[in-house]
Amino acid sequence: MITAQRGTKDILPDEILTWQVVQKKAAELFQKANYKEIRTPIFEATELFKRGVGDSTDIVNKEMYTFTVGNNENSITLRPENTAGVVRSYIEHNMDRLSPPVKLWYMGPMFRYERPQAGRQRQFHQIGLELFGIKEAAADVEVIIMATEFLKATGLNDLTVSLNSLGCPECRNKYKEEIKKAIKPYLNELCDDCKVRFEKNPLRMLDCKNEDCKKIFEKDEIKNVVLKDFICNECREHFEDVKKYLSAADVKFEIDKMLVRGLDYYTRTVFEVKSSSLGSQNAILGGGRYDGLVEMLGGKPTPAVGFALGVERLCSLIKKEEDKKLDYYIVSTETKEAVKLAVKLREKGYSADFDMQSRKFAKQLEKASKVALKAIILGEDEIKGGYYTVKDLTSGEQTKQTEI
Ligand code: HAM
Repeated sequence: MITAQRGTKDILPDEILTWQVVQKKAAELFQKANYKEIRTPIFEATELFKRGVGDSTDIVNKEMYTFTVGNNENSITLRPENTAGVVRSYIEHNMDRLSPPVKLWYMGPMFRYERPQAGRQRQFHQIGLELFGIKEAAADVEVIIMATEFLKATGLNDLTVSLNSLGCPECRNKYKEEIKKAIKPYLNELCDDCKVRFEKNPLRMLDCKNEDCKKIFEKDEIKNVVLKDFICNECREHFEDVKKYLSAADVKFEIDKMLVRGLDYYTRTVFEVKSSSLGSQNAILGGGRYDGLVEMLGGKPTPAVGFALGVERLCSLIKKEEDKKLDYYIVSTETKEAVKLAVKLREKGYSADFDMQSRKFAKQLEKASKVALKAIILGEDEIKGGYYTVKDLTSGEQTKQTEI
């Protein structure tokens, strides 16, 4: 027997209703705030993620599904996330000519070659949104509010919003120098990845999952070198505005100065939403500002901010939607009449099904009471008399009707 690949899951009919409700809520809420849906391809040039997400991140280094097809084809990668793809599309379709903000949302599968565990898959789905063209803190706040309002609309309440500012490249460079100075004495004790990160991208070290590295980074002389102390005035004011507007909008948050996120494109605000019910993989949603990415991928300098949430993680937390019963089940041994009636009912907007095997009435009624609210009995008498016998399957009450 061939089974589904490790780290992938079928979303079965009894789960899909919850997914459909989640997607509908996203579409409704985001449309109300003027976000338009965008669907980009699930594979892109590998270079897009190397440049966009960053080639010293775990995602690009260890987790990408990368391949070539044909003889002289370029290397392609199944998208590990969708911000880079949306930015590519924004540039390619000259969306910078639209009046800002340009607001886009998406839902779809992402692929990361990670070790599967609860809440972590190799194919998973994200719902996300990206807002282009606004540098002011109001955009960060709007995006965080969209995130929390959406989670609330799905019925989630036990949430924590963690917030940090990563500053701009200038203030971050000063910080990088200082953190390198503090870490240097321990360089030999770090894992091989962190030795590379030390040179290429020191901030990434703080995201390391290796327990020995984590212990070293917990030392006071390293822990006390905090980015916050290096933030320039403009970045500080921006962050103060974000906090001020969030408080005004009654969004509860906590500052997490260790929050660096696992992707390289972030500048200034970063945030995550966590639920204590999720265990170790407790982030439902993550996002932030990425003011340098559009330019880095070949577009004009364009401020931007967005988030993405894991649909599997969300669906594991919310109430499962129950399957609804059909409006009608047609009980008849006259297949031709049953088909005609089913078509007519569906045209009128009812949900309806019928027996395809001309089974005995008792069998058909048994099936009807399992799947439908009402049965329409269409036997010889009914056909001759030009009426339907409609049986309410909850009360058992039967009526004769000439029209449905
Ligand atoms: P991310 O934090 O890598 O951010 O992913 C966002 C969410 O996707 C996570 O919080 C989690 O719920 C879900 N997720 C990630 N990896 C997995 C996995 N292996 N299995 C199940 N769920 C997973 C991004 O992807 C950024 N593009 C977000 C963003 C948009 N930033 C700005 N705009």
